[in-house]
Amino acid sequence: MMRLKSVLACAGLLAGVFVVLSQPAAHAAPTRYEAENSPAVCSGTIDSNWSGYSGSGFCNGNNATGAFAQFTVNAGAAGTATLGVRFANGATGARSADLIVNGSTAQSVSYEATGAWNTWVTKTLTVSVNAGSNTIRFNPTTSNGLPNIDYIDVEVGGTPPPPPGGIIGWATESGGTTGGAGGPTITVSTFADFRTQAQAAGARTILVNGMLSGSGTVEISANKTIRGVGANSGVSATTLNIEDMHPANVVIQNMNIRGVPGNDAIQIENATHVWIDRNTLSSTIESDPDYYDGMLDITHGADYITVSWNIFRNHWKNSLVGHSDSNASEDRSHLRVTYHHNWFDRTFERSPRVRFGETVHVFNNYYSNINNNTSSYAIASVMDAGLLVEANVFENVQQACWSRSGYGDSDPGRLVARDNSLTNSGPCETNGSVAALPYGYTAENVGTVKSSVTAGAGAGKL
Ligand code: GCU
Ligand code: CA
Repeated sequence: MMRLKSVLACAGLLAGVFVVLSQPAAHAAPTRYEAENSPAVCSGTIDSNWSGYSGSGFCNGNNATGAFAQFTVNAGAAGTATLGVRFANGATGARSADLIVNGSTAQSVSYEATGAWNTWVTKTLTVSVNAGSNTIRFNPTTSNGLPNIDYIDVEVGGTPPPPPGGIIGWATESGGTTGGAGGPTITVSTFADFRTQAQAAGARTILVNGMLSGSGTVEISANKTIRGVGANSGVSATTLNIEDMHPANVVIQNMNIRGVPGNDAIQIENATHVWIDRNTLSSTIESDPDYYDGMLDITHGADYITVSWNIFRNHWKNSLVGHSDSNASEDRSHLRVTYHHNWFDRTFERSPRVRFGETVHVFNNYYSNINNNTSSYAIASVMDAGLLVEANVFENVQQACWSRSGYGDSDPGRLVARDNSLTNSGPCETNGSVAALPYGYTAENVGTVKSSVTAGAGAGKL
């Protein structure tokens, strides 16, 4: 029955609602200074032979020590400025430069190779500025010169991070997600009691006290909040299943959750309204990628899901959204998920890998060390999924995003990327446009994302 309804809903959506995203009103806009516009200075030439630049060209500095690119930047007040430097480096090695602010060297910067002269990435730097006019100069320290520089985005101050604790994103839509609110609160300290309470009918908040080891699958019923006590509570060796409920209205918070050999740790199938918040989900890296299955898999037309402030650590097939290339009729126009402020650390694939879902919103996440082999990647949009990948930090990530190329056997998906910061990472491949988001949110400035996520994500932070 559900599957038939999905087909009908899909026919309505196919009428062509894909619009180009506009900047949400709440998003603090940095000021862009193009390298080709005076008073910027380029000791070299303004070129336009490599595509993908913004404005009318980019600075190709002479390949010589001291052949600089300089910007004149205005600050409303003295303070910390976040610089987003957009550059391409098609050479084989990194190029280094001093960052000189108002005549003083502030730091040295390494511009990694981006793979091609038309592959542009943004590097985020933080500097102190004076009120009024400031000069910001990049001065190469070797005769290799600078990378090609397109522009710098400058934001003084920056936006405060969204308060941990608030729910934002897709789980707030279409009635919202409240979990066990309004029902009794029950503390459990054995796995048997946990299972009984989680499977019982009616709203309830279940406080999990201690690390409870189980087996098999726990079928969580509707209107539940499952929350760990303190920093060290949670469940292991069991699958938490949220299935066939519209709405499920389930919240999972402050839990330590371990990967389950041969199975998913959390599985959301054909269910709506789920909030996965401030958990630590971790496994071990086995030589066989299939030793564990998914950590958080979202399939069969599941919808209205927010995944926030979690740590995902040491897992291979981390978070799949849409399980099969041949499941369009059930999945298309569903699988709407927001991932924000998560720390993906050594999650070697699928963070997330999305088929059909639109718009899956991936913002303000910190990705680290996703590089155990040449096929490691953070995000993949395939089978015409639509992803907005916004203000995330990628450090040591083999490939930040796949989209235009497809991934594995799957056809391409669409992906819009903006304001991301990549360090020693492969590109975030983009493709086409995606549908606008219906909800309001404030994306944190990418310059502070790493510190707020490492401080605020995971169990023990409530
Ligand atoms: C090539 C490329 C330039 C680049 C230069 C360099 O000539 O076309 O855009 O600036 O290499 O090595 O700096
Ligand atoms: Ca050059």
